[in-house]
Amino acid sequence: MRTLIRNGRVITAVDDYHADVLIEGETITTIGSSLSMETDRTIDAAGCYVIPGGIDPHTHMELPFGGTFSSDSFETGTIAAAHGGTTSIIDFAVQGHGEALNLAIDKWHAKAEGKTAIDYGFHLICTDLPDSRLPEMKSAISQGISSFKLFMAYPGVFLVDDGTIFRAMTTAAEAGGLICMHAENGVIIDVLVKQAIAAGRTAPKYHAMTRPTKAEAEGAGRAIAIAEMAGAPVYIVHLSCHDALKKVVEARDNGIPAYAETCPQYLFLDDTLYDREGFEGAKWVMTPPLRNLENQEHLWRGLKFNDLQVVSTDHCPFCMKEQKELGLNDFSKIPNGGPGVEHRMSLVYNGGVVPGKINVNRFVEIVSTAPAKIFGLFPKKGTVAVGSDADIVIFDPNAEQTISAKTHHMRVDYSAYEGMKVRGVAKTVLSRGKVIIENGKYVGKAGDGRFLKRGLFNSPR
Ligand code: URP
Ligand code: ZN
Ligand code: ZN
Repeated sequence: MRTLIRNGRVITAVDDYHADVLIEGETITTIGSSLSMETDRTIDAAGCYVIPGGIDPHTHMELPFGGTFSSDSFETGTIAAAHGGTTSIIDFAVQGHGEALNLAIDKWHAKAEGKTAIDYGFHLICTDLPDSRLPEMKSAISQGISSFKLFMAYPGVFLVDDGTIFRAMTTAAEAGGLICMHAENGVIIDVLVKQAIAAGRTAPKYHAMTRPTKAEAEGAGRAIAIAEMAGAPVYIVHLSCHDALKKVVEARDNGIPAYAETCPQYLFLDDTLYDREGFEGAKWVMTPPLRNLENQEHLWRGLKFNDLQVVSTDHCPFCMKEQKELGLNDFSKIPNGGPGVEHRMSLVYNGGVVPGKINVNRFVEIVSTAPAKIFGLFPKKGTVAVGSDADIVIFDPNAEQTISAKTHHMRVDYSAYEGMKVRGVAKTVLSRGKVIIENGKYVGKAGDGRFLKRGLFNSPR
């Protein structure tokens, strides 16, 4: 199958030029001007950008959490991702206490295999790492699962102590892997949560009030200090605030290989949403919580100057009905997380490129190229180049859409961005050469997505 994408503006993290792109089978084989050859399909990309498919390195499909499961399956969640121009996700397999790492990996393979619309990889959340299990981390890396998430929060569920973090970082670094940190002082947060509930402060807004920015900053600072002692790189996930960003900036200024991602919810939403009437604030009960507006300009500055390398979504949807409602009388029982995998590219383009906060190359870098490099997928993924997988988005920078639960494709009964109008829409999406989104419609086949056996950690720049 030969497909020619004609007349588009090819944009990568470093390039910006008009060219035609020839795809043969699953791969980009030629990029040139005015290409003319026999093809099976021609796509006219006039007026549009031709960019690499988005890579969302932080999703939770079917995640067991708070007595329920996140509401998107690998099928529904990846179809929604495709609609928004994301062609690869990296989801989190979870090790149960006392469980072998391979068992967790097998369980997540069983959930995803044959179900996804786009390619997918796994990180591994480790909850229990005695010395005897450390070699299993190296085995995971050799299976293409080269990054691990550790939690400083949720005592009794996910939290691991500093010694475990140190040993895991040392082990991962020896084998070229990367530790992703959920950086929050969960022990102090636990005290604040218990105090709030005991005092009858049970509404959703107290979720945010019991998770102060200083708790996130303390976690980030501690994670970085442990990484420095272990001689390991560290990647802070879902960084939400200026206080935590300052720790990353300081580390990077001192030459420490600290990296971080933020998410659209922290760039576009703020904590006034928790003041909505009744239980509505539960829509934004996620961890870290939304912060006050002032933080946003600092996060954009971090993205612009590369103190933040990636925008992921932390897509972890729970329906208001029957799921978020589990915490109707107690915010600590609201399952943490929100939907987002579908609209990341449009939100970041609209909020970043349109107002001139970042340029188009940086846009491509933070939604695709940098995650590909950090998580061992580059240059197969994350760029438009000869030899790369033909994961391509024909992105219309002038088309507009209004985000709404009525029209989105995620399996969740609300939108975190209801009514927001955004400019910049994924018009046509190709996954390894196959068109899967055409004029806004899904035309692919769930099950065509492949497991990504990822390589080792690579510094993005
Ligand atoms: O609220 C969130 N973020 N839920 C998903 C789990 C996590 O910490 O990433
Ligand atoms: Zn987390
Ligand atoms: Zn997460």
